Amino acid sequence: MFRGPLEESILKRARESGRLSIALHNIRDYTTDKHHATDDVPYGGGGGMVMKPEPIFTAVEALLLPPSPRRLPGGERGGCADVPIILLTPQGRLFTQDVAVELCRCQRIVLICGRYEGVDERVRRHLVTDEISIGDYVLTGGELAAMVIIDAVTRLLPGVLGDPSATFEDSHARGLLEGAHYTRPADFRGWEVPEVLLSGNHAAITRWRREQALRRTFERRPDLLAQADLAQQDHEFLAWLAADASSGDD
Ligand code: 6GU
Repeated sequence: MFRGPLEESILKRARESGRLSIALHNIRDYTTDKHHATDDVPYGGGGGMVMKPEPIFTAVEALLLPPSPRRLPGGERGGCADVPIILLTPQGRLFTQDVAVELCRCQRIVLICGRYEGVDERVRRHLVTDEISIGDYVLTGGELAAMVIIDAVTRLLPGVLGDPSATFEDSHARGLLEGAHYTRPADFRGWEVPEVLLSGNHAAITRWRREQALRRTFERRPDLLAQADLAQQDHEFLAWLAADASSGDD
């Protein structure tokens, strides 16, 4: 579930350049019984299986033994000397761009892929330091969620993207969706690129882009506007958009 995405494109290059290092561990390798059982029936009965605590504790503790301690030197990169031990579960806090930024400051993170039927509560209570969900839907396991986090965090690591300003302009990075993008040709099947983009007037282009981002966010994700970092001019534009939108109403 991990090798494919880790061996393509930006994640592949990040690993090859040493900016990202991923170690995969199979919890089954940390079992001690002859059947290599990682789950068992729930106490109290009922359906579904529960992931056993021992192999998860053993695996995580093996990874964090010196010389790989739970605390690393170097809050230098702006934070996070502790190694977060994160359980992927639909019950966790919601993964957002802000959480990605928080995690990209960590030198190291441990991601534990749970199964929805459940993980023994003692893992939650006595091993993990954080629980994360990637959205309000249920996956068969935490692996794809872990991969989503790896991807979103890796592209924020220094030097991973060719153009670092790309992450600054990202949808969500500043609380707004990105506006429209165009490339050549200037006329495709009669559909023309907005004239301002061809004008060479950089101030006008910056303002246009800002308004596009505001318009797109207003139309698609108005919920984001409440949290966005908006200037007076932005509020005026939004007020104009709102008036324009309601002028068609009764
Ligand atoms: Cl982290 N795990 C599972 N199993 N389902 C999810 C999830 C995680 N995030 C959203 N749905």
